[in-house]
Amino acid sequence: MFDPYKVREDFPILKRKINNHPLIYFDNAATSQKPRQVIEAVKEFYEKHNANVHRAVHTLSMEATELYEEAHEEAAKFIGAKSMEEIVFVRGTTEAINLVAYSWGLHNLKREDEVLATLMEHHSNIVPWEILSKIKGFKVKYVDVNLDGTLNYESLKEFLTPKVKLVCITHVSNVTGVINDVKTIAKLAHENGALVLVDGAQSVPHMPVNVQDLDCDFLAFSGHKMLGPTGIGVLYGKREILEKMEPFHGGGEMIREVSFNHETRRCKISWNELPWKFEAGTPDVCGAVGLTAAIRYLKALGMDNVKTHECDLTEYALKRLKECLKVTVYGPYDASLKCGIIPFNVEGFNSHDVALLLDSYGIMIRSGFHCAQPLHQKLRISSSARASFYIYNTREEVDRFVEALKEIEQTL
Ligand code: ALA
Repeated sequence: MFDPYKVREDFPILKRKINNHPLIYFDNAATSQKPRQVIEAVKEFYEKHNANVHRAVHTLSMEATELYEEAHEEAAKFIGAKSMEEIVFVRGTTEAINLVAYSWGLHNLKREDEVLATLMEHHSNIVPWEILSKIKGFKVKYVDVNLDGTLNYESLKEFLTPKVKLVCITHVSNVTGVINDVKTIAKLAHENGALVLVDGAQSVPHMPVNVQDLDCDFLAFSGHKMLGPTGIGVLYGKREILEKMEPFHGGGEMIREVSFNHETRRCKISWNELPWKFEAGTPDVCGAVGLTAAIRYLKALGMDNVKTHECDLTEYALKRLKECLKVTVYGPYDASLKCGIIPFNVEGFNSHDVALLLDSYGIMIRSGFHCAQPLHQKLRISSSARASFYIYNTREEVDRFVEALKEIEQTL
């Protein structure tokens, strides 16, 4: 039985009081809190196994290398990848998308091509493509979003012409929590000869995700949003595509050989095998160890249970928020269409003021445009307050949030 109260016991930070109130952490779409299993794994790594990986033959280096490779295996299994060769460790979702832009896009996209994104993308799935389009001359086009925040699938079909070489789609919107039908989108894209890059930053931490089932070509996600440390994330790529791609960063570790020709005075370089070809320099070994602990924690809870719990909280919160007469919620009211993210505004208040007032009740939410300005423009708002849930949140906390909002409404 999934019990959020039992889960809470593993999260030391949740014992904190903020402004004399028990902490309510509703900013999980920005980053999650960490269970002691992750904190201890990181501590143990530095206390017992710290060394560089893939470089030395001494015991510590062998232990660190084993832990680092094991983390790739865990991540591969967690998302149903065929092997760890398909798992590239990066700093986070943003770096993963930039890797695809510069290792694949730079060498494969031509002036006459198009990249298809959507109006609900996070800036990290827009800006790299806009930057690259300036270099390569291709067009970036944007699929429309309906006023309830759901994707306009008709618009997607309209834009999906043979010119499109890549479809960039978020699995779950970081603003509305809307879940996109990525499997169908991948099928449509492939029928049209395009590859599919899925931003999984808000899906992988919250629901079961299987890359073979989705049949996506790339999937990007961050460790810190799924109980892991900051600074570690994953780019999944189909092996046959990664094999043909050029490296992203050049440096140590990503090469097999650098040989200097004394006659030409040039270096001849060959790349390392997957996934190391894409992991230049000393990697975030400790972050990888923390990510392993985070994945094991989530697996023990069961990702189906995680999804069900968040769906229940979302449904409950959406129902209770109707009692707040000055609150407007954006996105669909049907909790089954979304993950646990609720954007809203309170009439007469700026979203940052709402966040500050909630902070005085010990409630942490995010405010602003959440790195998704085009979606806010589409919804005809300049910013929103955003509550986002995770495994340790409870209905009781939702009640306190709603009661605080009712009091805030009264202050005008
Ligand atoms: N992408 C993160 C968010 O939505 C930071 O808050």
